[in-house]
Amino acid sequence: MSIAEKFLTMEYGPAPEDPKDALVWLDGHRRQFGHFVDGAWREPAEGVFFDSTDPASGEKIAAIAQGSAADVDAAVRAARGAFPKWQALTPHARARYLYALARAVQRHSRRLAVLETIDNGKPIRESRDIDIPLVARHFYHHAGWAQLLDSEFPGYTACGVVGQIIPWNFPLLMLAWKIAPALATGNTVVLKPAEYTPLTALAFADICQEIGLPAGVVNIVTGDGATGEALVKHPEVDKIAFTGSTEVGRAIRSATSASHKRLSLELGGKSPFIIFEDADLDSAVEGLVDGIWFNQGQVCCAGSRLLMQESIADALLEKVRDRMGTLRIGPPLDKAIDIGAIVAPVQLERIKRLVDQGVAEGATCWQPQIEMPSRGLYFPPTLLSNVHPTSVVAQQEIFGPVLAAMTFRTPAEAVELANNTVYGLASSVWSESINVALQVAAQIKAGVVWVNCTNLFDASCGFGGYKESGYGREGGREGLLEYLEPAWFKNAPALRAPERPPSESRNGHQRVDPAIDRTVKLYIGGKQARPDSGYSIEVRGAKGELLGEAPLGNRKDIRNAVEAARKAASWAKTTAHNRAQVLYYMAENLSLRREEIAHRLAAAVGEAQALREVSLGTERIFTYAAWADKFDGGVHNPPFRTIAIAMKEPIGTVGIICPSDAPLLGLLSLVLPVLAAGNTAVVVPSELYPLIVGDLYQVFDTSDLPAGAVNLVSGYSSQLLKTLAEHDDVDAVWCFADEASAAAAKSFSVGNLKQVFTNEGRTIDWFDPRQGEGRWFLEHATQVKNIWVPYGE
Ligand code: NAI
Repeated sequence: MSIAEKFLTMEYGPAPEDPKDALVWLDGHRRQFGHFVDGAWREPAEGVFFDSTDPASGEKIAAIAQGSAADVDAAVRAARGAFPKWQALTPHARARYLYALARAVQRHSRRLAVLETIDNGKPIRESRDIDIPLVARHFYHHAGWAQLLDSEFPGYTACGVVGQIIPWNFPLLMLAWKIAPALATGNTVVLKPAEYTPLTALAFADICQEIGLPAGVVNIVTGDGATGEALVKHPEVDKIAFTGSTEVGRAIRSATSASHKRLSLELGGKSPFIIFEDADLDSAVEGLVDGIWFNQGQVCCAGSRLLMQESIADALLEKVRDRMGTLRIGPPLDKAIDIGAIVAPVQLERIKRLVDQGVAEGATCWQPQIEMPSRGLYFPPTLLSNVHPTSVVAQQEIFGPVLAAMTFRTPAEAVELANNTVYGLASSVWSESINVALQVAAQIKAGVVWVNCTNLFDASCGFGGYKESGYGREGGREGLLEYLEPAWFKNAPALRAPERPPSESRNGHQRVDPAIDRTVKLYIGGKQARPDSGYSIEVRGAKGELLGEAPLGNRKDIRNAVEAARKAASWAKTTAHNRAQVLYYMAENLSLRREEIAHRLAAAVGEAQALREVSLGTERIFTYAAWADKFDGGVHNPPFRTIAIAMKEPIGTVGIICPSDAPLLGLLSLVLPVLAAGNTAVVVPSELYPLIVGDLYQVFDTSDLPAGAVNLVSGYSSQLLKTLAEHDDVDAVWCFADEASAAAAKSFSVGNLKQVFTNEGRTIDWFDPRQGEGRWFLEHATQVKNIWVPYGE
């Protein structure tokens, strides 16, 4: 037999990675780990340990401390103690530490890769070539941000002590995504790794010691969900950053709603992998291998739903089956393995259960006849075809090597199917027509769209979800903002309840002003509308005099308003230039009515404030007209032959509860950034002076604002807030009233995890442009979608 013939028929031999260095490191710790607190190892307060096992063999690797509330408390105190000094360091000093972390990760990269593989079960090829290099890249990139912090984020300050909870699928990478931006921005950290995969986090603790990171800046507490819960509930934690299941994300959202903790959530996904008939099918199939069989499919952004154009479905599935037959599944330390072990028995059970359920619901299951290891936790690569879009395997995250295939006919149908999910993390679009690919990319509701590529990540590009995939981004400029807040806001005083006229001074129905009775109505879908309740509320002036009656809106009015806002979605599609023009026109019309509006408003807030509200209000409209076509995204240059286009997209329909203290200026300060970014709004005006609605709808009506883009529903804000926050078609709630309302806005909206932006019950000086306008509001009015487009041969 010639060498050429031998080459063609040759079997793969085993090519195992030598785990010696990692085992020596484990033995150096006597295979038992406490927590890493205040720069030193600490025995668990309750002396309880659990085993971390190798999913490929079932063997115990090490004993890991189960963190109790006392351990969490010690770690949080250490982080709190370290915070002032760490924050006071110069950006350059912090940059040096981050750089040292990056270098140390590179120095120990092989050990880290082996530890990751034996703890998690992922192929060494992936941990060595993808996970660990990306970890180093993340620290390098953020060393740069640390250096540039003052010049790039003037006026912003660190949140404080950050609690970070990470999952088991990319243990060290998720640690890097969390710790690098937190440290770069001057926060200190308590991180809890997942119970199945704590080893690389513990190795990272060693690295923190090795580079001389000040004690308490990074603390690692190991344990299960109960440990995570103790961290979430700790009163001294200023922010929680979580990656994991949507279910736990929801529980964390609920547990933090009554606090002022900032929260970012990176949750599950059911990402579509869309292949059009004009795609390069062989490339698409290779993409699919990465999309769903990378890391055994235990990837939040896995391309788990294959959407194929009907005309190529059969040919494509044949190619997919052929390729599946060549996948090698086995011991993950073998360098020639494609698919490793599933992380834990419970996850393996879950995959089996969901596949069985999919088959029971009518899917056809196909698995290649490939050699399976005789021991360890393995699941074969699996193709489910004939999947109905409503089937559990098309809707639920399986988190395993299972692909659910469906067909579509037209691009519009592809988009509809792609968006037919509660999730919105990622997607992959394959077509040789750049027009089709980008047109579809623009319409998909997901934080990442990979065009003719898949599962590409980089520290310079934000990663995160739409809808129930969570909110907040990791990576890039937007990722840093998750760990920063405006310095003035952090120190803003608590809001004092607005002074209401004492009821005994009310003088019946004798009207002082205006002379001619004005019947103010609600404003829904571009029309004045009577309230469903048929009731109105008295509005009184500073001296208790009756100024007029405002309609008492109820749940039905809010629902009508939300429906009108949804119908006005064309506002998002209109050009930014057009939105700017409409806003300028609004300023013109407000200015024309300056005297009469100020005159009426004066009865509630006094003449001086009323005049300032109108004139500053006009200025504020100009500010956002200016921003409308300037608050745009960027183009990133990740280290691949790819560009990533960061689009700032509107969030959708925003429910706004306006502050009481500045009835006109407060409302404009919130509605304008929402509109400038292309959102639609349902607005509950100041309870103190809801009559402002009557003046505003005249301004909106005359300014070419499309019907339904802004809807105004007056009433008791606490009641209307509940309906808004619970409504599934409201995508975000902005609540700028008292502290109790901020908490209510967060807790009522746990269901669909909508984004909530509040003043946390603090005072905002709407008359000060540094507080009342600008990027901070626009950032909350937008979400970033990164569209990755490869170029070159
Ligand atoms: P999980 O969401 O329970 O665990 C993630 C992290 O949260 C772990 O560190 C865990 O200890 C911690 N945790 C659990 N309960 C907590 C609580 N009440 N408060 C605070 N922290 C808590 O994920 P799990 O159980 O490991 O996996 C279940 C399913 O979740 C998977 O089958 C998969 O579908 C999904 N998942 C999604 C991930 C993603 O990146 N989107 C990552 C991991 C799991």
